[in-house]
Amino acid sequence: MSTTPAPTVPAVQILRSDDPEALRLLDAGASLRSESWGARLRVTPAVLASCRAAVDGATGAGWTVRALAATEAEAVVDLDTVSAADYPHTVATAHDVPDAAALAAALGRGGTWAFGALTPGGRLDAVTVLTRLTDRVDTDLTVTRAASRRRGLATAVKAAAVLALAGQGHAWFGTGGAGANAASRRANEALGYEVTERWLHLEVPAG
Ligand SMILES: CC(C)(COP(=O)(O)OP(=O)(O)OC[C@H]1O[C@@H](n2cnc3c(N)ncnc32)[C@H](O)[C@@H]1OP(=O)(O)O)[C@@H](O)C(=O)NCCC(=O)NCCS
Repeated sequence: MSTTPAPTVPAVQILRSDDPEALRLLDAGASLRSESWGARLRVTPAVLASCRAAVDGATGAGWTVRALAATEAEAVVDLDTVSAADYPHTVATAHDVPDAAALAAALGRGGTWAFGALTPGGRLDAVTVLTRLTDRVDTDLTVTRAASRRRGLATAVKAAAVLALAGQGHAWFGTGGAGANAASRRANEALGYEVTERWLHLEVPAG
């Protein structure tokens, strides 16, 4: 019986950009396939002022920006489903559309929150979902309906989340995304998130 050797698939290693092993692998011939980043926000008066301005901008343009109830989980999932193909995909930042029942349960339980921007007709055009971790509140997803992008809505819903949760005593927030996602990074930076770590997705030649 003859055996055909399986094609060699390059391994992908995800390392922080300041990890000496990343430099060693690059020197040894690894190639940079993609990047991702993490960012943190500490609540300050200046951050709160930026957040208020972002919410006011969206409100002034006609959207209602507010916390979403557990009963609105289906609308969140519908919006995320029609937008799922627009998430930049990297080996470290795959996006899974949440399950509506699981999201509704999490929103009802507490420790998970959703903030949305709705048209006067009640259509959900942007949403961010966040969860409390041990040391911070972290972003699960943020998405804006394709037809309503570049209107400040992602920035506004993230801002509404910071304003509401800061009011409940949360002072440390985290988020992250694909290096290719300039819009996501800029929405965060507009509010005061600072990139604290970069991750390199290195394709290491087999053998
Ligand atoms: C990323 C996303 C949520 C941004 O939503 P949005 O409502 O268009 O964002 P905003 O209008 O608040 O814009 C935020 C910033 O990004 C900029 N921006 C928006 N789209 C951009 C693009 N395609 N390229 C570069 N910059 C962009 C805006 O100009 C703004 O920057 P500024 O404040 O310096 O002007 C939206 O593009 C989206 O839903 N993408 C698919 C899902 C996704 O990638 N989610 C994020 C995962 S980490």
